[in-house]
Amino acid sequence: MADTPPLAVAVFVSGRGSNVQAIQDKIDRGELNARIALMISSSANAGALEIARRHQIPSFILTANQYADEAAYGQALLRLLKDHEVKLIVLAGYLKKVPGQVVQSYRHRMINIHPALLPSFGGQGLYGRHVHEAVLNYGCKVSGATVHLVDLEYDTGQPLLQRCVPVQEEDTPETLAARVLAVEHEILPEAIRLFAENRIRFQEGRVRIQAEQG
Ligand code: GRF
Repeated sequence: MADTPPLAVAVFVSGRGSNVQAIQDKIDRGELNARIALMISSSANAGALEIARRHQIPSFILTANQYADEAAYGQALLRLLKDHEVKLIVLAGYLKKVPGQVVQSYRHRMINIHPALLPSFGGQGLYGRHVHEAVLNYGCKVSGATVHLVDLEYDTGQPLLQRCVPVQEEDTPETLAARVLAVEHEILPEAIRLFAENRIRFQEGRVRIQAEQG
């Protein structure tokens, strides 16, 4: 393990970047054999860009409307991913759709964090506060976070890791979001660690996690 080079990860972001910070913290503590090789942001105002600056992570602001069509946008992304030798893409609060050719090129090598227990409370429009509102309106007694593989739809790829949190009677979308975010910060770096340790297998459409070595 010590001899394995750090896994080169790209993070795709749109917002504040607390998940990116959680990943970087694990790396800095020597608990995750990875490096953030590239950040792609869909917004020039994303707080995550400040994290990139602090840690000298190469960062690029890229959106589909800068390109003639989706194919050109996908090509530009693939070029950056190749140039930075990215092995795993992590969508960490990324609100845009990733072009199909990137999804296909990184099949089984792209993950997303979702702030609910999929397949409930996922899909288009269910992001951020909307997710927690929907969970509370339904009257759920638990919620949680899901790390899943990315396929061509929103939030439909196979789950990789999930963790529950209780919903409390007095919860607001904000208090529930904060409890869920704390587990996001645990399971997203944990999922990257599974890739870094080559412990993920794909069998019969299911994700299997191999036990930790001795
Ligand atoms: C997280 O709740 C994530 O699950 C969702 O967007 C939020 C991003 O937070 N998709 P941050 O930018 O990592 O702080």
